[in-house]
Amino acid sequence: MKIIVAKNYREMSKIAADLVVRQIKRKPASVLGLATGHTPFELYDDLVQAYRRGKVSFKKVKTFNLDEYAGLGENNRSSCHYYMKNKFFKKVDLSKKNIFIPDGRAADLKKECAAYERKIRRAGGVDLQILGIGLDGHIGFNEPGSNFSSKTRLVKLAESTRRANAKYFGGRALVPQSAVTMGLGTILKAKKVILLASGREKAAIVKLTLRGKADKITPASVLRKHPQVTVILDKTAAELIKLPK
Ligand code: PGA
Repeated sequence: MKIIVAKNYREMSKIAADLVVRQIKRKPASVLGLATGHTPFELYDDLVQAYRRGKVSFKKVKTFNLDEYAGLGENNRSSCHYYMKNKFFKKVDLSKKNIFIPDGRAADLKKECAAYERKIRRAGGVDLQILGIGLDGHIGFNEPGSNFSSKTRLVKLAESTRRANAKYFGGRALVPQSAVTMGLGTILKAKKVILLASGREKAAIVKLTLRGKADKITPASVLRKHPQVTVILDKTAAELIKLPK
């Protein structure tokens, strides 16, 4: 596991964007695993900039998003799909047929989950997965207690997650109770992973993830079993871990 400490959020985002651009240059038909939330906000801005400057093309890239709230579709302003569409998809040359996000409005969400796993497999698996981390250690919406071998499935959201995401919904009561998420086993199959964390409020969970026990209580600790993870932290998120000089 490689750990990079950036001086701030801006630099963290830039380092991550450079790694994504490098991945696509090496393999233009890369399969990217994408995340929503506040953390990758400027990473997407940087990728859009790189595209506008002609440094990268997403024409052959396929994207698979980690998760979606149950019951929400792409036109709901709080959905992951809406975020991605406005933040990234419509600003670059990704082909619509190459964009995959679980459909939170599917009539049969169980079937939707199984189909999503198949689609990832058929695409040849994720080459590079981007992840943020929740205050409780979730990655995707894999809350504490998730099995390390779990697949894409319907999960109940932890109250702390609903509280943290209330800002996107105009109040906690409006945050859905459940979501569809790639599983920890799904994430583990990605060939490479980038985990991002920014801000002092993430410092404790970053420490637990990287230095605590690797178990179900801290879902992100599953990444310690992965051979190709790059963790990019800003200074404040890294302030509780000791790093070799
Ligand atoms: P955040 O969310 O990027 O908004 O902090 C991270 C997450 O919940 O995975």
